Amino acid sequence: MQSAEPGPGGGLIRFARSELRITVAVNGAVFWGWDGTGPQPSYALAGGSPEPDPRAVLEPDKDGGWRVVAERVTVTVSRHGAVEVCTPGGVTLRRDLPPRWWEPVGGGAARWMQRSEVAADARFFGLGGRAAGPRLRDGSYRLWNTDPGRPFRPGDDPLYLTMPIQLVVADAGTHLVFHDTTWDGTVVLREGEEGAGSGHDRTGRCEVRMDGGPLRCWVVVGTPARVLHTWASLTGAPALPPAWALGHHHARWGFGSEQEVRRIVAGYRRHGLPLDAVHLDIDHYDGHQVFTVDQERFAKLPRLAEELRRDGIRLVSIVDPAVKAAPGNSVYDSGTAVDAFVRDASGRTVRGVVWAGESVFPDFTRAGVRKWWGGLYEERLAQGFAGFWHDMNEPTSFNAFGEPTLPRSARHALEGRGGDHREAHNVYALCMARAGYEGLRELAPGQRPFLFSRSGWAGLQRYGGTWSGDVATGWPGLRASLSLVLGLGLCGVPYSGPDVGGFDGSPSPELYLRWFQLGAYLPLFRTHASLRAGRREPWEFGPEVLEHARVALLERRRLLPYFMTLAHLARRTGAPYVRPLWWGSPEERALRDCEDTFLLGDALLVAPVMDPGADRRAVQLPRGRWYDTVTGKAYEGPAQVLVDAPLSRIPVFARAGAVVPVRGADGGPELEVWAPAPGRTGGGLVVADAGDGWDEPEPERYVARRQGREVVVSREREDGSGEPPYPVRVRGLE
Ligand code: NOJ
Repeated sequence: MQSAEPGPGGGLIRFARSELRITVAVNGAVFWGWDGTGPQPSYALAGGSPEPDPRAVLEPDKDGGWRVVAERVTVTVSRHGAVEVCTPGGVTLRRDLPPRWWEPVGGGAARWMQRSEVAADARFFGLGGRAAGPRLRDGSYRLWNTDPGRPFRPGDDPLYLTMPIQLVVADAGTHLVFHDTTWDGTVVLREGEEGAGSGHDRTGRCEVRMDGGPLRCWVVVGTPARVLHTWASLTGAPALPPAWALGHHHARWGFGSEQEVRRIVAGYRRHGLPLDAVHLDIDHYDGHQVFTVDQERFAKLPRLAEELRRDGIRLVSIVDPAVKAAPGNSVYDSGTAVDAFVRDASGRTVRGVVWAGESVFPDFTRAGVRKWWGGLYEERLAQGFAGFWHDMNEPTSFNAFGEPTLPRSARHALEGRGGDHREAHNVYALCMARAGYEGLRELAPGQRPFLFSRSGWAGLQRYGGTWSGDVATGWPGLRASLSLVLGLGLCGVPYSGPDVGGFDGSPSPELYLRWFQLGAYLPLFRTHASLRAGRREPWEFGPEVLEHARVALLERRRLLPYFMTLAHLARRTGAPYVRPLWWGSPEERALRDCEDTFLLGDALLVAPVMDPGADRRAVQLPRGRWYDTVTGKAYEGPAQVLVDAPLSRIPVFARAGAVVPVRGADGGPELEVWAPAPGRTGGGLVVADAGDGWDEPEPERYVARRQGREVVVSREREDGSGEPPYPVRVRGLE
């Protein structure tokens, strides 16, 4: 270190061969960047960088180092360039060692490597959608969005949606670390170990190696809820799905015709099964070309859409980015007219091969291209589609330029900065989502857009959600699909879900049912499968499965007001709907290792069955009283309890005191209140919204108190408390 220059929120520290900028923002997030790097430009940040915290200043520290002391975090920088992030109490959460660079002799992007240490008891989560999670054990995780080319299993890495975000949970505190670099890279994690007796601890380690891009980082410290809140304030509030998108979706690659769609919808109706959306895959396109319709098999799509809508069912369309390279194809022609397609260094458009054959790829990293693409959704809206499913957007090309995507030398605008696919690849789908979202906002300003995307990057939540991609049918796939939802939620993308039943093959009736029961408690609840896979309709697996699937569907419908409330809370606070068990008590180590149970909001704890033949399962309960929602039996946590999990249901528990908005028998809202434990109170928030417009009703706050053998629920308002405007049903007193 040679000198330091204090500035707002921190300052600039000069070293013999580099310099480091440190800023603590008003929201408490710490930014550091080497070599003159600032927070911008960034694809992750929403609406610029946050203001620096004027109270935080750079001041001399011991041993010739410097430090910034802020309200929630202290950052110290050693003479040699190690950066330590500590709690206000002085406990180290992470120590980033001085980075290393490799600059090519001939110039160009420098590779870099950053080693860090975390507490011996720390556990790692995040890095986007990882099949092997949610707890990321020792191993190497690649940062390169990839279509694995076949249904994935827990060992497969990377998958479609990677993000350089880690959530690290330790006794001393929780922190999120984000390396804001879109390039290809690898993260190697090694959990630490506490020494037995007087033995030494081995710290946890993390090594980030990147093929290029700025060496910069954000660190956010606090409780999990605070960390995710700050993260959403940095990268953008999650888009609010319309109410119907929180219901049940049925997709299928290969519906084949409008008649087939009607047949499936009629099946749902005949069997008394709620259905909210039907997804049309690429087989409804004309010659597999996006933004077209096969006029033979889907001749009257707008009429079908209208018919379905009258029954409360929306149509969702798949949207692939690749455009068939054929003059006369109107998407190709209009794209060519605005010079939309990715070119190579010699100026030729890059040709890949996807479903429609030889194809070109829009460069979504250019504003004008996004605008053109966004306008194309007009055709989809005219066909009657209400939602959009972005696929193949890693981007995938089958003709593999050494790997199943565009060549690394392909040129991209990168918002005018110019660069190649090495930098643009990981944000390709993010920029496509932006194009779709912004287009839809213009085309249908009264409605909140619904889109979800197979690939993406940090900030995807601003435009929509995602799904697990092609998960392999099998019990390990079922487990992996929960892992993805949990991990993505911790990276700020709260809306996702799996292909219920798995993408390929034919699940056994038991596996299908268990997947269905899990899916009913995940934000995106969708059955989907490949062209060649067996059936996925609930009535195809025998009367017993049908009956139990109906129960799961009806329960999902009953919980819709709760899901809608969770969607609004995610938008306001960044908290995912689906949370790991340690969400409220990260200091409880046993909970950090629990990967087969999750919290759905504050009120519910869901324990899916993920093993064949199981009709009981052990459930880890966090502190407090929990009720089995079916039997009403109360359990006291922290504890591990063994409960029944018959084929008819998976165990779901309600937190004592919880106030849960549900749909009553007459379809109107109702409050289901779980009795607080004696001497305790409870409560909950309700956001009453059943629409698809832009109204954001204020959360209603309810408090539940125990009075003798009764439970009294009141609505708390600024002008005093009053009676709830909905019927109240108290449970847990039996
Ligand atoms: C790959 C997607 O992951 C899958 O869901 C879809 O059915 C196929 N593409 C066909 O469009």
